[in-house]
Amino acid sequence: MSEWWKEAVVYQIYPRSFYDSNGDGFGDLQGIIQKLDYIKNLGADVIWLCPVFDSPQDDNGYDISDYRNMYEKFGTNEDMFQLIDEVHRRGMKIIMDLVVNHTSDEHIWFVESSKSKDNPYRDYYFWRDPAPDGSEPNNWGSIFSGSAWTFNEKTGQYYLHYFSKKQPDLNWENEAVRREVYDVMRFWMDKGIDGWRMDVIGSISKHVDFPSYETKDSRRYIVGQYHSNGPRLHEFIQEMNREVLSRYDCMTVGEANGSDIEEAKKYTDASRRELNMIFTFEHMDIDTDQHSPNGKWQLKPFDPIALKKTLTRWQTALMNAGWNSLYFENHDQPRVISRWGNDRHLRKQCAKAFATVLHGMKGTPFIYQGEEIGMVNSDFPIEMYDDLEIKNAYRDLVIENKTMSEADFLKAAATKGRDHARTPMQWNAGKHAGFTAGEPWLAVNPRYKEINVKESLNDQDSVFYYYQKLIQLRKQYKIIVYGDYQLLLKENPQIFAYIRTYQGETLLVVVNLSEETAVFDAPAELLGEQWNVLLSNYSRQESDMKSICLQPYEAVMCISSSKETIS
Ligand code: GLC
Repeated sequence: MSEWWKEAVVYQIYPRSFYDSNGDGFGDLQGIIQKLDYIKNLGADVIWLCPVFDSPQDDNGYDISDYRNMYEKFGTNEDMFQLIDEVHRRGMKIIMDLVVNHTSDEHIWFVESSKSKDNPYRDYYFWRDPAPDGSEPNNWGSIFSGSAWTFNEKTGQYYLHYFSKKQPDLNWENEAVRREVYDVMRFWMDKGIDGWRMDVIGSISKHVDFPSYETKDSRRYIVGQYHSNGPRLHEFIQEMNREVLSRYDCMTVGEANGSDIEEAKKYTDASRRELNMIFTFEHMDIDTDQHSPNGKWQLKPFDPIALKKTLTRWQTALMNAGWNSLYFENHDQPRVISRWGNDRHLRKQCAKAFATVLHGMKGTPFIYQGEEIGMVNSDFPIEMYDDLEIKNAYRDLVIENKTMSEADFLKAAATKGRDHARTPMQWNAGKHAGFTAGEPWLAVNPRYKEINVKESLNDQDSVFYYYQKLIQLRKQYKIIVYGDYQLLLKENPQIFAYIRTYQGETLLVVVNLSEETAVFDAPAELLGEQWNVLLSNYSRQESDMKSICLQPYEAVMCISSSKETIS
């Protein structure tokens, strides 16, 4: 089967915040249909739709109660079928979110499962007796704070949930569960969808003896290595591939929490018949102090060298076996320019700089809604946050365990809180940024008058058109898709520079990731090359890149040989 997904650029939609067509303050499928031409104009080939299935929305749809029907605020199945058609009519593809590590506790399987110990659905989930003192079966923590176990009075046992207590984990050891999942996948693939983004797929196989973490940590509940890469993980994925994926021309990307490069190779080496690519977290964790009990909320300053090292390790390791996904933002990862860059006076240059770093690399790039217009983190007081992850962490770390001061927590939430990625899409400078005619479910970012789609489309120098050019270049130059990667200036603390090489050509990408000017001195092997600038965010024309002074967040992409510059 063709590997079209290697040449594709993916645009991720968070449906509740994209566009509201009926004024209920909540984005919907018809709203997406109305904006498809916008995505087509950007140049993306594939749309990834975050979950739209029926759900009590405890975790914004990542808690599914019916895999075969839409959540009513999003629309009906007819709307979904229409969306699939409209996407295809425009020559694009669409993938959906497969959330099968867990269901909602309101899914019929769990409703049945919790009724009695001998219910036929009991083994669809993990139920365990209390420890002799009545406490949880082990010390596993929930990723959303507290214990990973909740007690069920009726049957006298605890059930397992890696996320909220309304997201019980499915028991993949049970063949019937796996069959159900494959049926759901076939159902949607037969309706025409082109693949899946697989939610926390790295956690589907559990250590079923449920060993407690051995730890000197004073925390009562731990999230650690038992939470991912369980013993049967790859066996399950290979089975899924055999049973379903191999029978369709589709694209797959797994959210591989806890996966290192060796694991990534297992997932993505084509000869193993698992997935096309995974989302790694390693480069997104460089601003977290991994050893802190405060988890992702313990900030470390952004270090461009750490970013270069991490991305380069992944680029190099998957160069000839496997494939990378390329991303900085998604519905869990807030705006990169607010997190690691300058979202004020250098906002546009900074957005273009990060875009260049990512889109020049080998792999399939993902653009998260709003990233293409340089959206920024919002400005929330604690009571305005909506996300259960933030609320639970605040209660756990600041109020109950007091491992963080309120000020430090709020600073971390302002940088890394998921809600910053989830504020409504900013379409224009009108009321609620043109997202809804009603009251939005989450406040629009106050900077919408300055940052919105309309403004971007009217400005030839906008972040939007820069992304459009990056995508066009990827289509025009195979070297961007297939070229080998090599990092330059490894220890330079400001400049992220690398080359790609393919069939005698060299692509050079040079980006200043700092607010100060920086001098780029070409390494010896590049001296004497003549360069055509393909793209630059400061109108640079240089044909000789020997020694140049880069402006703050300046980015240049150029190619050796006589290729034409794209206008
Ligand atoms: C994934 C999703 C995230 C969700 C979690 C539980 O990490 O991206 O949004 O909260 O899984 O489903």
